[in-house]
Amino acid sequence: MMADKVPSIRLNSGYDMPMLGLGTYNSFRPNEVGDAVKAAIEMGYRHIDTAWLYKTEPEIGVAIKELIKEGNVTREELFIVTKIWDNCHEPEKVEPACRASLEALDMDYIDLYLIHFPLSFADFERTKPTATDYLDTWRAMEKLVDKGLVRSIGVSNFNKQQLERILKMDGLKYKPANNQVEITPYLAQEDLLQFSLKNGISTTAYGPFGAPGQNYVSKDAPKLLEDPTIVEIGRKYNKSPAQVILRYGIQRGYALIPKSTNPTRLAQNMDIFDFKLSEEDMKTMLALDRGLRNNFQTFKWKDHPFFPYKE
Ligand code: A2P
Repeated sequence: MMADKVPSIRLNSGYDMPMLGLGTYNSFRPNEVGDAVKAAIEMGYRHIDTAWLYKTEPEIGVAIKELIKEGNVTREELFIVTKIWDNCHEPEKVEPACRASLEALDMDYIDLYLIHFPLSFADFERTKPTATDYLDTWRAMEKLVDKGLVRSIGVSNFNKQQLERILKMDGLKYKPANNQVEITPYLAQEDLLQFSLKNGISTTAYGPFGAPGQNYVSKDAPKLLEDPTIVEIGRKYNKSPAQVILRYGIQRGYALIPKSTNPTRLAQNMDIFDFKLSEEDMKTMLALDRGLRNNFQTFKWKDHPFFPYKE
């Protein structure tokens, strides 16, 4: 019932992606992700975001299978996103990686399969950078669509020039359907967002609350959920800072995948479709932009030929 309220973005592949999804990146206790996925789907979430890196695919797969068996949801109603890791960028590794994720999820297709980073490495732990070009990876990703293993393909953590390179590549068959990047009120990414909108590439925001609790966030990072401007705007609408941040994203036109394992907060994050921020409040929110990136760990690889955080 609630799910009807979640708007979708029509992807350039023709499929619809719900604008609110569940993020599942963290170190979890056993069953924690599975329980969160079950609670989320029962309250109307349909879009679930995972990745090979997160190691959460198996638990998510089991939870979803149980819900389907109980008749709570069908596979067709769900939108499952997962990502190929940096050590599988060589074209011959792409299909095996995709099949490994399908097996881990115990599913026969993925709704949206993303290149997790433009960066390529020889090993899972990212100790040995390689120069494998993501354009070659992209050609192999296109074949997954033709084989019916995935419905849509996209990228994550790509900058504008990198998207442009894919759009201009020789013999491009499918444009990226989505770019998943960090977006918060402190990292508005307006230029990347507008470029993507203009080129028919949808955008998804990860870490929308500044990823409190994630191991990649600096302890000194300002606490977004306590930002006085956001708290104040929330008061006007009787909404929490988290709800204001999500609503702001919906109105700017991108999907968001806040992570929560707490049923109360899962419900709160879904309860954002009964109010609208005024134009003035949207402007105030946008003015909070300060180019503050939380996923600073990636700067460790700033000398990689495909390091994304420079434009
Ligand atoms: P919890 O799982 O205990 O709810 P991000 O999506 O930016 O990575 O943020 C995820 C973090 O924010 C998690 O630590 C999560 O904790 C917390 N969180 C999720 N939803 C809310 C909310 N509505 N209000 C406050 N904190 C939230």
